[in-house]
This record gives sequence, structure tokens and C-alpha cells, in this order.
Amino acid sequence: MESLKNRTLLKVIVLGDSGVGKTSLMNQYVYKKFNRQYKATIGADFVTKELHIEDKAVTLQIWDTAGQERFHSLGAAFYRGADCCVLVYDVNNLKSFETLSSSHMEFLKQANPVEPEKFPFVLIGNKTDVDGGNTRVVSEKRAVEWCGTKGNMPYYETSAKENINVDEAFLGVAHEALSNE
Ligand code: GTP
Ligand code: MG
Repeated sequence: MESLKNRTLLKVIVLGDSGVGKTSLMNQYVYKKFNRQYKATIGADFVTKELHIEDKAVTLQIWDTAGQERFHSLGAAFYRGADCCVLVYDVNNLKSFETLSSSHMEFLKQANPVEPEKFPFVLIGNKTDVDGGNTRVVSEKRAVEWCGTKGNMPYYETSAKENINVDEAFLGVAHEALSNE
């Protein structure tokens, strides 16, 4: 057994509009569970996942946040010490894509990292399963272009419901977070 002190703790903050699937992604990733019923997150809570990356024992501490505006009151102390920020939108919901820029800006303002232009973000476009892609309004190309304007932020498309690409996305997040250590 590795002792706890040899583990690297990585703090990850998940942001995005209400209902895009932040909680669902985390539940699928950590517990392999999906719930069709929507239950709004209030405040913030975290889950942890133990990983091995590049011979390092890593604990991902993933903070889920509330997308609903009336629950927004986390403040700078909450963001401090973050190693990576995950921005989530719903590929079937244009507004959730359009608010990404302000979430990105707001995070940097609150977290106030030493080198803001180097701080690792990851973008996730979720709910790719919905109606076989027929209700999709944001193309992969458009999302990748947006990432290009933000220093080539890594981009993943997922379905929390069908468990598509969820492990890959969070592994990418862990790599990004580790690069910030
Ligand atoms: P807030 O806590 O309000 O910020 O919302 P959230 O981003 O945590 O969204 P949540 O995970 O609660 O999901 C919202 C709704 O979308 C729920 O009914 C989920 O079952 C559904 N949902 C989440 N991910 C997917 C997905 O990949 N595909 C489909 N079809 N539905 C999803
Ligand atoms: Mg939630």
C-alpha cells in the first residue's frame, strides 16, 4: 500500500450551466451510475478518484458546482489552489456554449492563478447521445475553434448517459492538472 503522503492531490473544479450534466459526468466517472432524474446541485461538493499517472499515485478531488445562478456564491477561497478547471456545456444547448467565455473569465478572476495564460482548462461537450445527434446545435468544429482561441484547450465530447468518452475526458483532466503541479 502506498502511504497517503506519497499521493499527489489534484483539485479540479467543474463549471457550466445548469443541467448540462456536470453531476452526471462525475457520477458516471466515479460510481458508474446514471440518473435520468434532474436534481439541481446546491452549493458545491466533491468526489475523489484514485489514479496512477506517469508512475505517480494521484488523487483527483473533483468539485461539482451549482449551475443555477441563485446558488452561485462560492467566492475566491473556493477556487484557490485549483489545479484544473473543467468547463462543461451541452452540445444541444447553444446558450450553454455561449456562456463558456464568461465562465472561463470568471474562473480566472476568482482563482487568480500566478500565470493565467498557462492555467489548465478542459472543455467537455456533453449529451452527444440525445436523439442520435439530431438535436445537436454546436458542432465539434465550432467547439474546437473556440478552444483554439483559449490556448488550445483540450476538448472532449461525452455522453454521461451512455458512458461514452467519460473516462478518457477525466484522464485528460488528470494529465492537465498534473502539468500544473
Ligand atoms: P446543476 O446541478 O443544476 O448545475 O446541473 P448539472 O450540470 O449537474 O446537470 P445534471 O448532471 O444534474 O443533469 C441534468 C439532466 O440531464 C439530468 O436529467 C440528467 O439525467 C441529464 N443528463 C446528463 N447527462 C446526460 C447525457 O449525457 N445524456 C442525456 N441524454 N442526458 C443527460
Ligand atoms: Mg449538478
